[in-house]
Amino acid sequence: MSKYEAEISRRRTFAIISHPDAGKTTLTEKFLLYGGAIAQAGVVKGKKNSRAATSDWMEIEKQRGISVTSSVMQFQYEGFCINILDTPGHQDFSEDTYRTLMAADSAVMVIDAAKGVEAQTRKLFKVCAMRDIPIFTFINKMDREARDSFELLEELEKELGIETYPVNWPIGCGKEFKGVYDRGSKKIIHFTSNGGAKAATATEVELGDPNLDDLIGERLHRQLTDEIELLDGAAAEFDLDRVRHGKLSPVFFGSALTNFGVEPFLEHFLRMTTGPLPRTAGDTLIDSMDDSFSAFVFKIQANMNKAHRDRIAFMRIVSGKFEADKEVYHVQGGKKIRLSRPQQLMAAEREIIEEAYAGDIIGVFDPGIFSIGDTLCAPGKKFKFDPIPTFAPEHFRRVRSLDTMKRKQFLKGMEQIAQEGAIQIFKTPYSGMEEVIVGVVGTLQFDVLEYRLKNEYNVDLYMEGLPYEYLRWIETEDGEPVKEEDLILGDGVKLVEDYKGNQLLLFATQWAINWTSERNKQLTLLEFGGGW
Ligand code: G4P
Repeated sequence: MSKYEAEISRRRTFAIISHPDAGKTTLTEKFLLYGGAIAQAGVVKGKKNSRAATSDWMEIEKQRGISVTSSVMQFQYEGFCINILDTPGHQDFSEDTYRTLMAADSAVMVIDAAKGVEAQTRKLFKVCAMRDIPIFTFINKMDREARDSFELLEELEKELGIETYPVNWPIGCGKEFKGVYDRGSKKIIHFTSNGGAKAATATEVELGDPNLDDLIGERLHRQLTDEIELLDGAAAEFDLDRVRHGKLSPVFFGSALTNFGVEPFLEHFLRMTTGPLPRTAGDTLIDSMDDSFSAFVFKIQANMNKAHRDRIAFMRIVSGKFEADKEVYHVQGGKKIRLSRPQQLMAAEREIIEEAYAGDIIGVFDPGIFSIGDTLCAPGKKFKFDPIPTFAPEHFRRVRSLDTMKRKQFLKGMEQIAQEGAIQIFKTPYSGMEEVIVGVVGTLQFDVLEYRLKNEYNVDLYMEGLPYEYLRWIETEDGEPVKEEDLILGDGVKLVEDYKGNQLLLFATQWAINWTSERNKQLTLLEFGGGW
C-alpha cells in the first residue's frame, strides 16, 4: 500500500447523533481523551455557557462561535485518523444538523439508557437511514438506573426499524454497573473508575473464571449467565456486511461519564466501520482512492461579525488528496480557484493546513462564491456530486418588512440567507413579493434571521407564527404542476411554492397529511426535497 492509500484507508469520518442530554458531548470528549488529543476530560466545551438563554444576540453569537469551532474534530487513535462531525442539538438544531450527516460515513447513536429512543434521535436516524450508512448504538448512562436491556433493544427495532446486534452486554446498572460482557471474545471486562476525567481501568476475565463471583457478585453472575443464554438463543446473527449497509446496528453498553465501556466501543467501532465511502456524481461513483482531488460543500457558516462579511464553507473531501498550493476547479462557479486559508480542527484548536485526504473535512474562507452542494475537483474534471437533499422545516412564520419602502433590501436579505441554507423561503401561488413564508428546522434561526436582516440589511421584520409543523414536497405522476382548485385540501393545509418553483404542502398535523394523501391519490408527498 502506498503512503497515499494508507492515509486514506486509515480515515474514519462519523457523526454522533442523539437527543439533547443523552451524552453526546461527554462521549465525544472521552473519545478525545482516549485518543490522547486532550489530557483531561472537561476542556472541549464550556457547556454550561452554551446552554444559556438565547434571547440576546451576544449569546447567539457566542453559540454560533461554539458551533464553528466544534463543527468537526480530528484526532488519532491506534493508527486511525478520526474525524468526528458535530451535530448541534438544543436550540442550535437546524437544517445544518441534517446536512452535516451527508458528510459522514457512519453514525454513532447515543441513547440514554433510562429514556430509550427520543424525538431528536428519531429524526437524525431517519436521515442516516436514508443513505444506508452504518449506525452504531451506544446505550449510555448505565451507571444510573436503566431500563431493561432487552426492552431497549426491542424499542430500537420497533421504533427505528433497524435490527440490532448487542456486541456486548451490561453487567448490572446504576451503582452496580460493573462492566460489560464481550460476546465475541466471551470475556468479561470489569471496570474500576479513576474519576471521569481519566481513563477507567479495565480487567479482562474469562466467563467461567472461578473468581467471577468475587468480582461481580453471585447474583449478577447468575443473571449474566441467564441473559447470555437468552441472547445467544434469540438475537440476530452478526453480519458485517449488513452492518456496513445500515441494516444491522451493533449495540454497546456503557457510561460516558465514568468511562466504562468507552474504549471497548471505540475499538470495535473502528474495526467494524469502513474507510471513506464513495459518493455518486450522476451515473459515476467517485471512490476515495481515485487519484485526483474532489470534495463537496455541505455547510456554510456565515460570519456573524458585521465587519467581516466573509463566510466559512465546510467541505468533505471525497477522493484524493488536497494540497493547499494547488488550484482546484469549482464546478458550479466554472472557475479555477485556490482555496483560501484551508483549516481543520484538532480537538479544541484550529489549524491552517497544507494537505488533507479523502474522508477529511476542511473549512475554507468563502468570499460568497459557494453554495451548499457545490463540487470542487481537480482542474480538467467536470463532474457534479449529487445534490444534498433539502429537509422539511418544522416551524413556519409569515414574514415581511415593517417598512414597506424597504421591500428590495428585504428580499435581497431573505434570498441571501436562504441561499446560505439557514432558512427556507416560500410564497403562496398568487401572493406578491411583499411577504414570504419562512420555514426553519430549529426556532433559533428566526432570531438569527431577525438579527441579520436588521444588522446587515437595515430591515426590521414583522413576523407572525403559522400553525404548520410539517412540510411535504409534491410529486405528480406527469411531472406537471398542480392547480389548487384540483386538490381536495382540508383545514390546516396550505399550498406553497419555493423560489425555484417547486410546489409544497404545509400541514398542521400528521393527521392532515394522511387525510390529504388519501383524498389526492395523484400526488406523492415526499419528506426530502430535490436538493441544493
Ligand atoms: P448532550 O451533548 O447529548 O446534550 O449531553 P451531555 O454530554 O452534555 O450530557 C448531558 C448530561 O448528562 C450532563 O450532565 C452529563 O454529565 C450527563 N452524562 C453524560 N453521560 C453520562 C453517563 O454516562 N452517566 C451519567 N450519570 N451522566 C451522564 P449535566 O449535569 O447536565 O451537566 P454537567 O454539569 O455534568 O456537564
